Amino acid sequence: PEKSEDNLRSPICCIMGHVDTGKTKLLDCIQGTNVQEGEAGGITQQIGATYFPAENIRERTKELKADAKLKVPGLLVIDTPGHESFTNLRSRGSSLCDIAILVVDIMHGLEPQTIESLNLLRMRNTEFIVALNKCNSVVLIFSNFHLDRLYGWKNSRNAPILKTMKQQSKDVQNEFNMRLTQIITQFKEQGLNTELYYKNREMGETYSIIPTSAISGEGVPDLLLLLVQWSQKTMVEKLTYNNEVQCTVLEVKVVEGHGTTIDVVLVNGVLHEGDQIIVCGMQGPIVTTIRALLTPHPMKELRVKGTYLHHKQIKAAQGIKITAQGLEHAIAGTGLYVVGPQDDLDDIKEVAMEDMKSVMNRIDKSGEGVCVQASTLGSLEALLEFLKTPEVNIPVSGISIGPVHKKDVMKASVMLEKKKEFATILAFDVKVTPEARMNWFKAYIDNLKEQKKKESADEAVFPCVLKIL
Ligand code: GTP
Ligand code: MG
Ligand code: NA
Repeated sequence: PEKSEDNLRSPICCIMGHVDTGKTKLLDCIQGTNVQEGEAGGITQQIGATYFPAENIRERTKELKADAKLKVPGLLVIDTPGHESFTNLRSRGSSLCDIAILVVDIMHGLEPQTIESLNLLRMRNTEFIVALNKCNSVVLIFSNFHLDRLYGWKNSRNAPILKTMKQQSKDVQNEFNMRLTQIITQFKEQGLNTELYYKNREMGETYSIIPTSAISGEGVPDLLLLLVQWSQKTMVEKLTYNNEVQCTVLEVKVVEGHGTTIDVVLVNGVLHEGDQIIVCGMQGPIVTTIRALLTPHPMKELRVKGTYLHHKQIKAAQGIKITAQGLEHAIAGTGLYVVGPQDDLDDIKEVAMEDMKSVMNRIDKSGEGVCVQASTLGSLEALLEFLKTPEVNIPVSGISIGPVHKKDVMKASVMLEKKKEFATILAFDVKVTPEARMNWFKAYIDNLKEQKKKESADEAVFPCVLKIL
């Protein structure tokens, strides 16, 4: 058998942190792209996956003269949003990764979603490295006062961090050290030991901090090398390639010319064009056949529109766009399964629907309760969890994922005859179709008329409420 060290898959690395700490910019810096400036409001709203082949990592880290050879074929990096409303995406991203980068803005220190991300990583025992980003900002602020002293700064573009540090003035170094000490203290308050990575003698016990700049690239070589070295040193077993397909649906998207597609992360195994697959769907398991396996060009983003490379087969780990028929009701955040020649179709269908089952179990059996609708399974689960808490305690009679359609409003309206106050759709992060709005409006008016007839204005409840959360 192949020695496992020679048969490693690419580690999957998730970038997490508070909004605007520079996560996407760091990715841009590594791959030489400009994803961040193309984002609406500069805010990341979906998970992205980018593949860095080993030769690119070798090139970017050569100044560090690391003699340790790269044993992994590359690195699959997953970008997540930092905005507070995307807890579900952070959770999905972090559940997939082998290692993570926690990005902290040196000017802001630990922020609410830094701590949320930290807790997600700890919950899953995921190793991470802290990128203390925007280090150039410190220098830039100072540069207003000490322009001459920072004369050499420009020459450090993409340089290893120690080399950069040595070139900084005493003032800049003092400012940096003061901020670093504050941030190490903040981590301590969260129960974590952290230390600058080149001073860290006990990796594994103490988390490493790498100062970086996503604008000028300082520290990026260190970050890449540490990520790869650390994962291939401590995660050999986890990273040993195996044939069993392990694959998660990240997003369900309509792409012009391709219809409804799914973006997936293939964690292990191989996918082939023509494979029969099963994914979890709103109306039950979706059995379909892979029409095309697409990836962006290496070092390019899966999220960004552009030309795709077609593949006959793809080996893990990789971010892939899959086109196939019948994916319209696929649910993001669930598993993808391949049907092998020996497999029993019904068994796999059942396994594929497991994710959905736990959610279905939360529905009130009495049939009385509100309807809940969300964009993804993850956010739906979070909402159901919230409604179940003793302080809230609202029963749920129906759930749905995706836009609110007319049929959803009609379903919720049924409650008008049972319990008026439950004739409600709680909608989170979903579109409401014009037809659905119209239908809701009609039901609302009809009910008001009904109330009027009874002349019991005091009792008038507002039925069939559509609450956009
Ligand atoms: P979300 O995905 O929305 O959570 O944000 P993000 O963490 O991906 O941050 P993003 O890459 O969108 O960067 C936010 C802002 O910070 C942008 O204006 C960047 O140009 C700026 N920025 C990012 N990295 C650096 C850095 O190293 N130095 C400086 N000076 N600015 C940076
Ligand atoms: Mg971003
Ligand atoms: Na941003």
